[in-house]
Amino acid sequence: MTPRHFLQFKDLTRAELAYLFERTRWIKDKFKRYEAYHPLHDRTLVMIFEKASTRTRLSFEAGMQQLGGSAIYLNTRDSQLGRGEPVEDAAQVISRMSDVVMIRTFEQEIIERFSANSRVPVINGLTNEYHPCQILADIFTFIEQRGPIQGKTVAWIGDSNNVCNTWLQAAEVLDFNVHVSTPPGYEVEPERAGLYGTDHFEEFADPMDAARGADLVTTDVWTSMGFEAENEARCKAFADWQIDGEMMKAAKPDAVFMHCLPAHRGEEVAAEVIDGAQSVVWDEAENRLHAQKALLEFLLLGRVQP
Ligand code: CP
Ligand code: NVA
Repeated sequence: MTPRHFLQFKDLTRAELAYLFERTRWIKDKFKRYEAYHPLHDRTLVMIFEKASTRTRLSFEAGMQQLGGSAIYLNTRDSQLGRGEPVEDAAQVISRMSDVVMIRTFEQEIIERFSANSRVPVINGLTNEYHPCQILADIFTFIEQRGPIQGKTVAWIGDSNNVCNTWLQAAEVLDFNVHVSTPPGYEVEPERAGLYGTDHFEEFADPMDAARGADLVTTDVWTSMGFEAENEARCKAFADWQIDGEMMKAAKPDAVFMHCLPAHRGEEVAAEVIDGAQSVVWDEAENRLHAQKALLEFLLLGRVQP
């Protein structure tokens, strides 16, 4: 049987996402009551990291253990992946020894080649193009704080990177709007973002216009992993795209601020915003754990009844 993968946000339907958000709530509440829940007893997750991570590694490793399974960490430097073993061969071998694989890598094409040769589900833990687990947690966080996201407006200020692309895909699946403002030359590429159309997003030259009336204001680093050589040019180009208190005032009074983290205070976000009353970044980070536990359970066991 072909395994079910989560390589981009749109790999899940709206109905499946609704189920996952409910499941995340149930799993989180149980965890908060210190009640053990081990549906993945004896199952093994392999985590492959070709880029650095704090949250993704921690949330997947802790989450798998909390579900009764175990997690194995591999990186490029200490495995044969860094010495030129074909991705297809690695996928054949790794997926014969594990039940689910999470990969953080560079081009999306790498994870697609891996999944095409994998006997077990593959989860995208971030590629140059997408970061679907992040947006799963972010949308759960929005629902937890403010209720359904359908019809709401998300303002994305900054780089049209992997996290931005994933917000744009999520808007199509869950029927909300994204107002994007990037500096000239860094605009959204709809094809790279994997969009069906342009109905759910609008681009604004002025970041204040993108923020106006938003229910959620969010951003990310100006220089993503793998693009470090462009850092100097990016810092100059993005200087006017910082989310500060004035920009938050343009959004709705009850707008929340999110950031996938790690953040650079004084660059993409002012300290007054990320450390301010509208910021939900710590809940957002914690929810990576709960949302991914629901995802692991779903990919390995399908829908379960509590
Ligand atoms: N947000 C996120 O994916 O963080 P890490 O890079 O620390 O995993
Ligand atoms: N856009 C960032 C996200 C880090 C979690 C990067 O790819 O480096």
